[in-house]
Amino acid sequence: MTNSSLAGKVALVTGAGNGIGRAIAQTFAKAGAAVACADLEAAQAAAVAQSIEQSGGRALALTCDVSREADTVAAANAAREKLGPVRVLVNAAATIDRNANVLELAPDDWDRIFAVNVKGAFLMSRAVLPMMIAAGGGSIVHIASQLGRVAAPQRVAYCSTKGAVIQLAKAMAIDHAGDNVRVNALSPGAVATRRMIHRYGGMDEARRTAGPKHLLNRLGEPDEIAQAALFLASDGASFMTGDEDWPCLEPGILMKRTIPTAALVVMPNCGHTINLEEPAAFNAHLDDFFRIVDAGRWPTRDPRAMAGAILGR
Ligand SMILES: NC(=O)c1ccc[n+]([C@@H]2O[C@H](COP(=O)([O-])OP(=O)(O)OC[C@H]3O[C@@H](n4cnc5c(N)ncnc54)[C@H](O)[C@@H]3O)[C@@H](O)[C@H]2O)c1
Repeated sequence: MTNSSLAGKVALVTGAGNGIGRAIAQTFAKAGAAVACADLEAAQAAAVAQSIEQSGGRALALTCDVSREADTVAAANAAREKLGPVRVLVNAAATIDRNANVLELAPDDWDRIFAVNVKGAFLMSRAVLPMMIAAGGGSIVHIASQLGRVAAPQRVAYCSTKGAVIQLAKAMAIDHAGDNVRVNALSPGAVATRRMIHRYGGMDEARRTAGPKHLLNRLGEPDEIAQAALFLASDGASFMTGDEDWPCLEPGILMKRTIPTAALVVMPNCGHTINLEEPAAFNAHLDDFFRIVDAGRWPTRDPRAMAGAILGR
């Protein structure tokens, strides 16, 4: 068995009917897992389960609204009955929300976005954890987003939910390490799914506008995110928990990623844009930065050494 094998494992993937969740379900099946494909869209879940079976794998389609506790419990139980105890859970379901700021977003819309993106991951984890723990442990992957770390205009609810999902992974990792359950978050940059079409009006426009913002100068593909999810789900990541994996990134975010979390909060207070391609400009702003550091909001004792490492000096 290779490290990235899921042979003999049962995986449950939410949001498996489309995009990233679908790619994850199909990739996990190719890696040997029996996959429960859960989605609000019954026909899509069924189509993905069928595609897995036609390729010689084992799959089960589950219609499930992850924001409803009864649905998540029923999905987890059905997966156990038909496939066996779930050892891998991927929470990929997220609702497509309209662009809005706080003033434009109705409180009911806020609640619905949180109910699916955050509470859904909580409920599904709650439904699966007892069987995972009883079976000896497992791996949970929450699909977050780069927008869980940095903000974008008109994305107030989405950004807030993805920040919450990253923290959910870390808090769960601490609570369940003793149960041999690893919990990680996966935070992709922009990936070519229908979500992009919704946001940019078309995939060509999404590729043209969002692609060049990324280090690799293009959108990610769902299969590329699925490979990262496979790594986190498998024994290849056996010593990783409470982590956040970033499969593709916009350059400014990579720089911020290299710096401890507290710096992400204080950085905007510097009033400067930090661009990976301009380390000299970053250098010039270090004094400002360290004034904030010296104010005691930096979590390490040796920030200059860390900045030197960041800049490759
Ligand atoms: N596409 C991107 O650029 C991108 C970037 C970063 C993170 N993500 C995250 O990746 C995940 C998958 O996104 P995608 O781009 O594949 O989107 P998508 O819309 O193609 O797929 C999301 C799936 O979730 C399902 N879903 C929605 N509400 C649900 C509910 N209440 N219960 C169960 N299923 C529900 C949908 O039916 C759909 O099949 C999401 O968590 C998204 O936030 C996407």
